[in-house]
Formats: sequence, structure tokens, C-alpha cells
Amino acid sequence: LAQAAIEQHARLVADFPSPGVEFKDLTPVLADAAAFAAVTGALAQACAGADLIAGIDARGFLVGGAVARELGTGLVAVRKAGKLPPPVIGVDYQLEYGTSRLEVPAEGIDFTGRRVAVVDDVLATGGTVVAATRLLESAGARVEAIAVIMELADLPGRATIAADLGPAVRVHNLCRG
Ligand code: PRP
Repeated sequence: LAQAAIEQHARLVADFPSPGVEFKDLTPVLADAAAFAAVTGALAQACAGADLIAGIDARGFLVGGAVARELGTGLVAVRKAGKLPPPVIGVDYQLEYGTSRLEVPAEGIDFTGRRVAVVDDVLATGGTVVAATRLLESAGARVEAIAVIMELADLPGRATIAADLGPAVRVHNLCRG
């Protein structure tokens, strides 16, 4: 159901962000009420058992909040550097070009023992979700699942997650692109 809705509504954009790459824009999927419901419902199933949903800056926020409401859990935004008030804990990670940094609050949320599912729109190289998982675990949480709308099939995201985080973290996609 979710996969069909994604295929129906995703917009294919040639040569973006670079020549030869076909970009799948999920914006129209989320704008369609039935497709949005199918996607967030399927992501929620993938996150079953979690008591805290972590949505990743920025497009992970769009689905993370909806998934948390479906499951009746809390929600935390894993933010890019400089967006949260202090104190924060953060992790630096490598991008294809340069580095980036993700942060969560160091006070006000007790992460200890929380069972977290990380939600994002796209899994590409896996660098972002690996960094988010390490950050949440360094804060005391246990990340049980990573759930994305689309996993890019020609990138090693899933293998990177397995190599860096081990087999304990479940990885779910609703479609492969
Ligand atoms: C995209 C996407 C994921 C990440 C996946 O976000 O939303 O968060 O890249 O890439 P990876 O698996 O190679 O780490 P982007 O960094 O473009 O940020 P945005 O959501 O703020 O546009």
C-alpha cells in the first residue's frame, strides 16, 4: 500500500543533484492525504516497540511527528549544529564533501533506557542515521530501529549501518529507489 502510494506520487527529476542522477522527490507523496497516511502508518509499524521517535533534521521531522502520534510515543528532533539552545551533546560525521554535526539536548530529556526508533525520509550513504544513532546511544538511549521512506538501492547505506552499528538495529524501508 505505502509502496504503491510512493510510486504513484513521487516525482522523478532527471540530472539532480548532479548529471546522470535521477532524483526522487517525495514532496508530493506527503502532500497527498492517502499517501501520507499510508507512509506514516507503515513507518509506525516499522517502529513498533519504540517509546521515543527521533526525527532527523530536516525532512525526517515531517514524518517523525506523525509516526510518534500513530504510536503514542514522544518525539525528539535530532538537529543540525547550532539550532538548539545549550547545553547540547553532538556528534561530527563525514559527508561526501566535508563534515556535518548533529545535536540533541543535553538536559530536559532523560534518554536513559529509552527505546528509540530513528525516522528519516531517505537512506543514502547511511552516514546520517549512523551518526544519529551513535549520538542517541551516547546520551543513554537504545536505538532499536531505523525506518525510512526510501532506501537508495545503489548506495551502501544498509551495509554501512550493519558494519558500524552491528545487527541489533533493524533497518526498514518502504521502497527502494
Ligand atoms: C538527506 C536526507 C537524509 C540524508 C541521507 O538530508 O533527508 O537525512 O540526506 O543521506 P546519507 O544516508 O548519505 O547520510 P540532507 O542532508 O539533504 O538534509 P535536509 O533534510 O535538511 O535537506
